[in-house]
Amino acid sequence: MLIQNYEEYQKAYEASVQDPEGFWAEIAANNFEWKKPWTKVLDWNFKEPKIQWFVGGKLNITENCLDRHVRDKPHQPAIIWEPNDPGEDSITLTYRQLFDRVCSFANVLKRNGVKKGDRVCIYMPMIPELAIATLACARIGAIHSVVFGGFSASSIADRINDSQCVAVITTDGAVRGNKSIPMKDTVDDALIGCPTVKKVIVATRTRTPVSMIKGRDVWWEEEVKFVNSDCPAEEMDSEDPLFILYTSGSTGKPKGVVHTCGGYMVYTAYTFMNVFQYKPGMIHFCTADIGWITGHSYIVYGPLACGAISLMFEGVPTYPDAGRFWEIVEKHRVNILYTAPTAIRSLMGFGTEYVEGKDLSSLKILGSVGEPINEEAWHWYSKNIGKDNCPVVDTWWQTETGGILISALAGITPLKPAWASLPLPGVQMLLVDENGKEITGGNVSGNLCIKFPWPATIRTTWGDHERCRTNYFAAYPNLYFTGDGAMRDENGFYRITGRVDDVLNVSGHRIGTAEVENAINMHTGVVESAVVGYPHDIKGQGIYAYVICESHANDLELTRKDILATVSRVIGPIAKPDKIQFVSGLPKTRSGKIMRRILRKIAEGETANLGDTSTLLDPNVVEEIKNGAQQMR
Ligand code: WTA
Repeated sequence: MLIQNYEEYQKAYEASVQDPEGFWAEIAANNFEWKKPWTKVLDWNFKEPKIQWFVGGKLNITENCLDRHVRDKPHQPAIIWEPNDPGEDSITLTYRQLFDRVCSFANVLKRNGVKKGDRVCIYMPMIPELAIATLACARIGAIHSVVFGGFSASSIADRINDSQCVAVITTDGAVRGNKSIPMKDTVDDALIGCPTVKKVIVATRTRTPVSMIKGRDVWWEEEVKFVNSDCPAEEMDSEDPLFILYTSGSTGKPKGVVHTCGGYMVYTAYTFMNVFQYKPGMIHFCTADIGWITGHSYIVYGPLACGAISLMFEGVPTYPDAGRFWEIVEKHRVNILYTAPTAIRSLMGFGTEYVEGKDLSSLKILGSVGEPINEEAWHWYSKNIGKDNCPVVDTWWQTETGGILISALAGITPLKPAWASLPLPGVQMLLVDENGKEITGGNVSGNLCIKFPWPATIRTTWGDHERCRTNYFAAYPNLYFTGDGAMRDENGFYRITGRVDDVLNVSGHRIGTAEVENAINMHTGVVESAVVGYPHDIKGQGIYAYVICESHANDLELTRKDILATVSRVIGPIAKPDKIQFVSGLPKTRSGKIMRRILRKIAEGETANLGDTSTLLDPNVVEEIKNGAQQMR
């Protein structure tokens, strides 16, 4: 499975295009355990879409992530957990220990009425129990829906109701940096509107007082006393859903991206091993939260399927100071560090004094994910963290793609700062113009599409297959459209330029402008709003909201704060606008469409050339907004 040099990469890529089915069948057969072999490698069309890999194959992903490693190397660490507070002990779970804990918690789920195919919402901080809970769901064939701990009660409720979850797994509270965060309280608020939830399982982290409703709420620690750790893995079909993960699109509420057992397993393991050139014994530290796809694929499933050592960190990069990541690298002798440009840029801002004196000599490979990495950050990372001795792989992918699609293979394929570089084997990228016509050659740019399925392609959006079709497969016939724009150089390297739709990427978090607008519009007195992104030094993109209020006589500073409170309440603190500009009107076309292009330019401070504004209903409004924006600067 491991590609060892550039020639092998080229051969693998070639083979994967000539004979995708043969290529993936060989990888799937030789590197994983199946309970029953598949009858057909691939069945697909992008029209419906219908994408099925390893059709008829039976497996359980946890047998691949746990059982086989328990047989081979029971005492090797599987997960190393580093707590928020450096004074607290870290925890190491060997494959044997992780296996036992997953199995006994799987029995707790069963004991609480959770069955194969049921949906389970997981709302937890980054503690080992989060990884255990996801794997326990997979063990019994329940479909997990992990909701990032920064989302509000109303976001949790939307997600629970969309997929009709029967149970929630959470903790009493959480600690992040010097903040103490309620978890169970937030779940309680969410559950007021969630009739399908019958059980709430609460693990202890902070032992803050929480309400525990008789018959519904149980303590994790108490429940495990009633079960043993003998839990045979449920036999799953390759195409049975493994999990749902909600993500923002350009319209409406977040959609539940569905990944299935077989293809997702094969693809995350294959990409983990090759991109990071994982060798046995290496310690891999992915700084993402398991609440996002990066955590699912490269903290839990990919690494564990490869029998790797995966480090998970509860805290934030700046607590107790901006040297925390480097301290963790030194303490645990981390070999692979996989983080986000926003973290690099923020740590860059603190200067190198927090890096100096830390022993980073264990590092071999550095990774970046989530948003375009600018050259300055790339070089800082390479020089100060990698000591010019570690390849920096810029990995491009999406929740919908399950795993990395474009990236260098560390030390194997050439690097080009700020370029994600080459597609991985099995990934057939192309660029198209607005009409869907392929743009060929080098030194070109266009919309990034894919013409052939890879094993971890999104299968559907939960409960609404049509939405999956219109979102990803309808823009251009027979192509998967990523929503990103990209450039391609003369060597076939790709550089992602960012979203071409109304999705923002704020500190690597995907947020739909429509979602933020809906939340702002829920605020009393707000008539209308328009949200756009603008370049932000650390976050990559900031959120800029233009808001029309009913009366301008109010205290606008207070209204601004109130609106932020409403957005926090409706979506979560991560969606709070960085800037709010009160306006009396928005630039609209005669048909009533908001001209976002103009609003974007004003937010970016590029007011000199706003383009043609003559088709606007009221061109004067642009002048007013421009002047208002200048005053805010
Ligand atoms: C962006 C995160 C540039 C992109 C794994 C994509 C990137 C969206 C990169 C998906 C990268 C992710 N370079 N842009 N290396 N990685 N993106 O679903 O716009 O949270 O469409 O998945 O993040 O975000 P998501």
